[in-house]
Amino acid sequence: MKTIIITGGAGFIGSHVVRLFVEKYPEYKIINVDKLTYAGNLANLKDIEDRPNYEFVKADICDFDKMYELMQTRKADGIIHLAAESHVDRSIKDPFTFAQTNVLGTLSLLQAAKLYWESLPEGYEGKRFYHISTDEVYGALELTKPEGDKDGRGPYGDEFFVETTKYTPHSPYSASKASSDHFVRAFHDTYGMPTIVTNCSNNYGPYQFPEKLIPLFINNIRHRKPLPVYGKGENVRDWLYVVDHARAIDTIFHKGRIADTYNIGGFNEWKNIDIVRTLIRVTDRLLGREEGADMDLITYVTDRAGHDLRYAIDSTKLKRELGWEPSLQFEEGIEKTVRWYLDNQDWLDNVTSGDYQQYYEKMYANR
Ligand code: NAD
Ligand code: TYD
Repeated sequence: MKTIIITGGAGFIGSHVVRLFVEKYPEYKIINVDKLTYAGNLANLKDIEDRPNYEFVKADICDFDKMYELMQTRKADGIIHLAAESHVDRSIKDPFTFAQTNVLGTLSLLQAAKLYWESLPEGYEGKRFYHISTDEVYGALELTKPEGDKDGRGPYGDEFFVETTKYTPHSPYSASKASSDHFVRAFHDTYGMPTIVTNCSNNYGPYQFPEKLIPLFINNIRHRKPLPVYGKGENVRDWLYVVDHARAIDTIFHKGRIADTYNIGGFNEWKNIDIVRTLIRVTDRLLGREEGADMDLITYVTDRAGHDLRYAIDSTKLKRELGWEPSLQFEEGIEKTVRWYLDNQDWLDNVTSGDYQQYYEKMYANR
């Protein structure tokens, strides 16, 4: 493998993947292709931007001609595709953008890779199209143990998403991701393209845009702003530290079986309200406030439309076949994460200024 295009590398997960590949594989050329939407930020990659094996190209994955030109001029051997619209609440307000980028953008990238690789004497030999997807395509699980059973394998229910779980997306976001996953698999089945798809649980860690639960709430606690908990805060999510996701992507890109699917997760289910209480306690402590002093910031607001109740991913296959395991316990990961956002207020201020601030204000004005 010589040249790898990573799409969405200026976003949250993409920036961790780019950093890992640039640092770990000096012999590879890493091309970060990103449109720099509100969620893309080159400040996420300041520490590696001058590395000789790194190049940034500002481009829209929906621009087929540009994608084809990049495949040809950079002679790309592999693609790790993360570029997407990723926030469920935005997808509820503006589903078209999600269909555009997530479905048509993925298709444009697939077609560009297909035309370029099929033009080579070796064809698809040694090539790889790796598509990053989400557990949300599987739909929602029942919450059969609402009180929680922390000793159980699934503290809130015995059912898990496995690689063969039927796709049942509920939000425009998950519907668009499901559609793109189907296109990727269709390119393998129809043209023989060497594809891989992985479905990961909720990520947390540094550089996540503060419209998502964890960074939004840490920032609000710091500034003593209300914490808008949707519904009763009883929805369950399965959380993985972002660097562990990037490590999994590295493992699967190099050792995963072509045309296969792997679930990525850390068996780490939490009710939203318990996460929020943990964030308050940790943030208060790190700011030198009385631990738990900010509990009164919790504000229950109208539930998200179509809010999936429970996600829980079974990543046994990835552990068994490729030996990947998460490296961080949640308590340690959350402590690191809160500390990072508190130490990087400039980064937060930068991304929450301007356009995004107006969007945020409009979005919560009617709650
Ligand atoms: P993000 O929103 O933080 O970043 C997305 C990046 O894609 C941004 O840099 C943005 O500028 C870029 N982008 C958007 N539209 C583009 C376009 N048309 N052309 C080129 N670049 C474009 O997202 P994230 O949370 O880092 O998620 C990355 C991927 O991982 C997504 O495919 C998402 O579905 C998937 N995923 C995310 C999570 C999670 O918890 N965040 C979990 C599982 C899977
Ligand atoms: P989010 O970070 O948007 O990720 P996803 O919707 O992809 O799981 O939300 C995580 C959970 O937190 C989800 O159940 C919705 C909930 N949530 C709130 O209660 N309030 C908020 O302001 C946000 C952004 C999310």
